[in-house]
Amino acid sequence: MALKKNIENLWWKRFVLDREDMYGIDAAILMNQEVWKSSGHVAGFADPLVEDMKTKKRYRADHLLEEIGIDPKGMTLAEMDALIKEKGIKSPDGNALGDVRQFNMMFKTHVGASEDETSISYLRPETAQGMFVNFKNVVDSFHPKLPFGMAQIGKAFRNEIAPRDFIFRVRELEQMEIEYFVKPDDWRGVFDAFQKEQVEFLTDDLGLPATFIHQVEIADADRAHYSKHSVDTEFDFPIGQKELLGLAYRTDYDLKAHGLDYFDEESKSRFVPHCIEPTFGVGRTLLAVLSSAYTEDELGGEKRVYLKLSPKVAPYIAAVFPLLKNKPELVDKAREVFNMLRKDSALSGRIAFDDNGNIGKRYRRQDEIGTPFCITVDFDTLGENPENKDTVTLRNRDTGEQERVNIKNLVELLKK
Ligand code: GAP
Repeated sequence: MALKKNIENLWWKRFVLDREDMYGIDAAILMNQEVWKSSGHVAGFADPLVEDMKTKKRYRADHLLEEIGIDPKGMTLAEMDALIKEKGIKSPDGNALGDVRQFNMMFKTHVGASEDETSISYLRPETAQGMFVNFKNVVDSFHPKLPFGMAQIGKAFRNEIAPRDFIFRVRELEQMEIEYFVKPDDWRGVFDAFQKEQVEFLTDDLGLPATFIHQVEIADADRAHYSKHSVDTEFDFPIGQKELLGLAYRTDYDLKAHGLDYFDEESKSRFVPHCIEPTFGVGRTLLAVLSSAYTEDELGGEKRVYLKLSPKVAPYIAAVFPLLKNKPELVDKAREVFNMLRKDSALSGRIAFDDNGNIGKRYRRQDEIGTPFCITVDFDTLGENPENKDTVTLRNRDTGEQERVNIKNLVELLKK
């Protein structure tokens, strides 16, 4: 949770708080079918599916093709169907498969007292539509000039046929999305700028290795129904190179679909703005951070496993220990240091205290959750060696090296 919150906060800071042209919102999760009919999701938000004729279990047709080494990218339903039949592909239970069909991935329910045709609603499969249907609220409240954007972090729900690979593909996912509105002729420059900034967020804010990041232009047949141009950012996960986040040129598709437009004060004209959409999956970003931080090495002749997390995302920036837990004078001093660090607003909530077990075990525990620094209060801190009075040891997670630091310099050092 702490790691996830740090990722979300860094995203919100970069893309919303640090910009003047972005409006953060928190829209409804359940929306009436009319929204999803207009957006094209009722008709078009579907995966290709085949059914085991005996067990009636359903499988993703594109996944079955991938499993026998065929790349289904760009294939139509009919082409996938023909290939499955030609290759005689069976279900994982060894039974014959039916025809490839589209399977809508939205969760359907009824809202209100009556269960009739008009009360059908869907859990949102993307946070995006909540922003489009609130476009007029933002325009009427803030009168923003183009270009401007709306941003949201929240849950989305997809009835994935085959959730798999830990948190890579789940049915309850979380997205961090921006809908950025521009004059129609300006889309290309904005698209390119966001493409660059998406990568900067991954490398500069989250500390992901640039060599793990790949940008892939999406072919016409594979793009979502609303997109005219899409570039996915893929990442080297332990399960292979897979989609981490997306960028789409949604044109005027969505605003038009909901009957919305914009009056431009400058040109005194009314038109439908075009939209660029940078979208990030929170879970996949967390998985990228976790998997690329996992490190095995040897320290002091002992094997260890640790998370080499950037201090910006690590749940704790530092942990404070008394050298021994049964010496009240050490515990009191360590608590004093802990409370002093926690008082600083930049470090608040990011400092741990631990007096459990021996010091070696405490180091290992913090290494395992990626804490970059450990601070130990020892007898020198209390003045046993007057030269070191009011200093503590500061241990570096990656090298295991320790230096003595004056307590009064700790806040600045950790913030840096
Ligand atoms: N509004 C655009 C949109 O939803 P998408 O490519 O379908 O685009 C955006 O989803 C991001 O959401 C993906 O790049 C991915 O990070 C994440 N995502 C999509 N489906 C997911 C799932 N089933 N489990 C986890 N994350 C998912």
